[in-house]
Amino acid sequence: MALKLKKNKKQIKGVDDQTYLTLKEERAISKANMRVMKEFERKKRRENVDPSEYLTKMRDPNNVVEFDNLHTFFFTDVGTTRAVNGVSFDVPTGKTVGIVGESGCGKSVTSLSLMQLVQAPQGQIVEGSIRYKATDGKVYDIPKVPMNEMLHIRGKEISMIFQEPMTSLNPVFRIGRQLDEVVMLHVPDSTADSARKRSIEMLKTVGIADGERVYESYPHELSGGMRQRVMIAMALICDPRLIIADEPTTALDVTIQAQILELLRNIKDKINGSIMLITHDLGVIAEMADQVVVMYAGRIIEEGTVREIFHSPKHPYTVGLMLSKPRVDQGVDRLYSIPGQVPNPINMPDHCYFYNRCERAMPVCLGPYPDLIPFSDTHRAACLLYDEAAMARQAELDREATVEDVSAASERGEVE
Ligand SMILES: Nc1ncnc2c1ncn2[C@@H]1O[C@H](COP(=O)(O)OP(=O)(O)OP(=O)(O)O)[C@@H](O)[C@H]1O
Ligand code: SF4
Ligand SMILES: [Mg+2]
Repeated sequence: MALKLKKNKKQIKGVDDQTYLTLKEERAISKANMRVMKEFERKKRRENVDPSEYLTKMRDPNNVVEFDNLHTFFFTDVGTTRAVNGVSFDVPTGKTVGIVGESGCGKSVTSLSLMQLVQAPQGQIVEGSIRYKATDGKVYDIPKVPMNEMLHIRGKEISMIFQEPMTSLNPVFRIGRQLDEVVMLHVPDSTADSARKRSIEMLKTVGIADGERVYESYPHELSGGMRQRVMIAMALICDPRLIIADEPTTALDVTIQAQILELLRNIKDKINGSIMLITHDLGVIAEMADQVVVMYAGRIIEEGTVREIFHSPKHPYTVGLMLSKPRVDQGVDRLYSIPGQVPNPINMPDHCYFYNRCERAMPVCLGPYPDLIPFSDTHRAACLLYDEAAMARQAELDREATVEDVSAASERGEVE
């Protein structure tokens, strides 16, 4: 849907700026948002939609998911947050794709978009496709799938492990009841007995020795590591094809972290599934991922295999990320930190979003937002340092600046 975004006339073009709105302006934005949000919600809630509207084809049959120019925005009273602003990447079958990036860069919103779980009505996928190949061979264009149809995909086909298990487990129900519910919902012909059996088996698979006891426990009676295992059991109980793990180990200590990662890896191999692994921890990425997507301010700024990203990062942000990770084989007084802040997501600049923090920024970087430049079949980065035409323009600008400097100096009589 073509969308006209209301521009706030008081916004100051730039990056780290503040926006002040009058009550009248806020009301006007809110009214315009309401219209847009209603239209999106109406479409999602339609019933008896012809499958031809949301069934499609994969670009590459080896992929399980293809994100294609995804735009997910939040329509807030102070303006439109472009949380995900044109993201395209693939998740191949049987592979782990790691997504890294600074807090607020759109990692969770990208994965929530795939589950159609973005907080509605403010959060909406406004443009782009997410093609998902289901077990039955059908390919769904997720943003177009109506809500009732989505219930069959979510949980059964794609499941999500959240960062904080306490917010996802219901505190007033026993673990067993919560696990059984998932089985009863998604496994055809399941009975109370078969669900219980499967739940206890799954608890054992995720490394909980006394599955029967945990089955009868409430979430608060378990340790953090056990709760995270329960969450993983819940996510895997219906053998999903795709697991989205959003910071699955951030709340855990390192030994439990290692066990959980090992568990995820084993289960992925067992079901030949794929994992989308979101994390701040580059160590986890190095250990788990086959491919890495680096996001910055709602866009992909670099992607490649783990080797390419760790051994030859191209984008200055990725280079900064690599410099900021501690290494045991190199003693440093102080770890590198990337200066500055991410631009205000409501008022993004037209040029490279990293410009205000980039140590290699050039005047030419104030031109249009850079395209992703390929370095290999798998490695791409969005930076003008690797764009020949832009570098030629910059050289021209440098020459002109030198000529101007020389003539100014000669006018002042400083040149013989
Ligand atoms: N419900 C919401 N309403 C408005 N804006 C939101 C909402 N949820 C997320 N956002 C905005 O979307 C952007 C991306 O958020 P997201 O949660 O995807 O970040 P993230 O990369 O997962 O960060 P973190 O690493 O901290 O989890 C942020 O600017 C955030 O403020
Ligand atoms: S395009 Fe320019 S500002 Fe942006 S990352 Fe590359 S060098 Fe830095
Ligand atoms: Mg997140």
